[in-house]
Amino acid sequence: MTTTDARAFPSDFLFGAATAAYQIEGAAHEDGRTDSIWDAFSRVPGAVLRGQNGETACDHYHRYRDDVALMKNLGLQTYRFSTSWSRVQPDGGPVNPKGIDFYSRLVDELLGAGIKPWLTLYHWDLPQALEEQGGWTSRDTAARFRDYALNVHGALGDRVNVWTTLNEPWCSSFLSYTGGAHAPGRQSPRDGLAAAHHLLLGHGLAVEALRTRDPQLQLGITLNLTVAKPVDPTRSGDVDAARRIDAQFNRVFLDPIFRGAYPDDLLEDVREFGLADFIEEGDLAQINQPIDSLGVNYYHGELVSDRPAGHPLLEQAPTGRAIRSPYPAADGVFYHPQGLPLTAMEWEVQPDGLRELLVRVNNDYAAPAGTSLYVTENGAAFDDVVAEDGSVPDARRTAFLKDHLGAVLDAIDHGVDVKGYFYWSLMDNFEWAWGYDMRFGIVRVDYETQERTVKDSGHAYAEIIRNRALS
Ligand code: NOJ
Repeated sequence: MTTTDARAFPSDFLFGAATAAYQIEGAAHEDGRTDSIWDAFSRVPGAVLRGQNGETACDHYHRYRDDVALMKNLGLQTYRFSTSWSRVQPDGGPVNPKGIDFYSRLVDELLGAGIKPWLTLYHWDLPQALEEQGGWTSRDTAARFRDYALNVHGALGDRVNVWTTLNEPWCSSFLSYTGGAHAPGRQSPRDGLAAAHHLLLGHGLAVEALRTRDPQLQLGITLNLTVAKPVDPTRSGDVDAARRIDAQFNRVFLDPIFRGAYPDDLLEDVREFGLADFIEEGDLAQINQPIDSLGVNYYHGELVSDRPAGHPLLEQAPTGRAIRSPYPAADGVFYHPQGLPLTAMEWEVQPDGLRELLVRVNNDYAAPAGTSLYVTENGAAFDDVVAEDGSVPDARRTAFLKDHLGAVLDAIDHGVDVKGYFYWSLMDNFEWAWGYDMRFGIVRVDYETQERTVKDSGHAYAEIIRNRALS
């Protein structure tokens, strides 16, 4: 291909951007909202860089009309956002009319702007009151999640057609209950496995309940997935390291959802931590509900080995606090840098991994089940600099966006029916344990003034959307 060739996207391909409630809304104590696990975790010394939190964030709760106008100017066709469980049901209790009303107004604003709302029910912010009753390690939380899904649907189901149950359950189980890097900060392999199982169960219960109530809905889940490759494909130790990561990152969720079973090798690897103790008769059939869409979140791939030449999986929190490996059974597995360019998160930029991942997930899981694929997140943090004229010339983010959209087109060329792409994120926001240091937005947020500025990457994305092609 020469650089002057334009590559067109299919006519029904959807272009969007994504955010999440706790990362942008602020108004943490307004209109009846109570603490989520992220409010509580942010207060723990050393949990979040600079002791920051989402109390104000991007103040989207008060500025949502302007933010929707911004989306319209960018030409977004769809907007992926999440509802906050503790705003809708403070302490996990009865529905709070003022809380749900915020989402109702947001949805009306989006529809008025011609933007399709894409709703995620759970983007990591469990009501703290439910954590105190066991959180995701408690089976009851799965049933509570189903009830919450029905409550949100009761208020918005007449206007929202696309429903995602969970965002990245790997993070809300293993990173949160085993690694301790995210809320609630527990550090137990057994708790991570219990959380993963109960999140999956909550997904299955919610899908069944929503489907029964309204068969027209487009239902799905979003998983963060990776391409784990052995450093040396001829060395059994390296191959086994890649297999372990694939099992504990990708297949632990994909197999129950699409095949109604945990992978045998995973069950064997984690046997000592008692995953089987949490599985009751009928659970896997409950989890194995047909879904209409699978959201893939992709940031980077990894090269792994059992030889300690790279970084051990045992990591450090951004604050320097010791956290443990989020993988219950990956002792002796090491990441190896591939020498690729890095984002500010020190994630290697590897666009071709996205093509590879989409082809694999489609062939092995989505296509046989008749499930459509969407890239529900992909993006990069860089240390942006504001130019003298006020513009934000973020050339590396623009290149990242174009290269990954190119990888999506490559996957489509390989026969994968990818139906849409959401850039993460619409705007700079609260990047969890990293606080506000990491800026992923195509729109810059000045946290002192809450002023929004479309970055050069945002202008580039708007042009791609206008042309419906990469040039
Ligand atoms: C995944 C998460 O869904 C989102 O909340 C986070 O900000 C981005 N990745 C970037 O780390």
